[in-house]
Amino acid sequence: MTALFITATGTEVGKTFVAASLIRYLRQMGHHVDAIKPIVSGFDPAQAGASDPGVLLTALGLPFSPEAIDRISPWRFRAALPPNLAARREDRGIDVEAVVTFCQRAIERRRDILLIEGPGGVMVPLDEQRTILDVMMALRLPLILVTGNHRGAISHTLTALDSLLRRDMNVLATIVSETPGSTVPLDDMVAAIARFTAPVIGVPRSRRQGGDPGAGTAFDRMFGPSGPGATGGPST
Ligand SMILES: Nc1ncnc2c1ncn2[C@@H]1O[C@H](COP(=O)(O)OP(=O)(O)O)[C@@H](O)[C@H]1O
Ligand SMILES: [Mg+2]
Repeated sequence: MTALFITATGTEVGKTFVAASLIRYLRQMGHHVDAIKPIVSGFDPAQAGASDPGVLLTALGLPFSPEAIDRISPWRFRAALPPNLAARREDRGIDVEAVVTFCQRAIERRRDILLIEGPGGVMVPLDEQRTILDVMMALRLPLILVTGNHRGAISHTLTALDSLLRRDMNVLATIVSETPGSTVPLDDMVAAIARFTAPVIGVPRSRRQGGDPGAGTAFDRMFGPSGPGATGGPST
């Protein structure tokens, strides 16, 4: 029984891709997987299938009905802005305690493995004072940090890791999801980050948009060949 929180150095680096890949891989291994993405900005109901909850539900083998989307992503905002600003556009706010409670309920109710995809990067603001890091600190789940191999990504990654490790967060793995068109080779990026932290796993660009279970060899390295929990690390 495992729950993992997936965060990143920023938005659009590959959290949903990694989450969906992990879901598909774990399901192939016979695990029962649940996933939530509590806060989504840039959500267009007309494009629900391509939204983060839509991609996650599809990877879970579930229809992306409005009810299903509401169940895994209750805080949805239209504007493609950081959550605090997207909420303000709609004269709404984000109750950070309620987000923590929602995640805790999902952790309690999980049948086997739960993945939680955070919004944006490690310190994306949720209200005037707090960021998603406050939610991660309240939950204390093992984390996966997703980054890319674009220029500047090494510094972004080390800064994110520093913020997490200073707060004694358990970073299970750093995943470099290959950035299209990057001039920095994926292997060089992985080697550069691996001088500071371990494990670092490169996930090459895939032709599959909704996650690629073929990234499984990468996840094997994270969990060990007997599946999640085998290392003892990710169990909560
Ligand atoms: N390794 C990869 N292979 C193929 N597509 C990827 C990969 N990583 C990210 N993508 C794609 O890049 C886009 C942004 O990634 P996404 O997972 O949505 O980022 P985030 O969830 O961090 O905002 C999506 O279209 C996603 O499918
Ligand atoms: Mg996403």
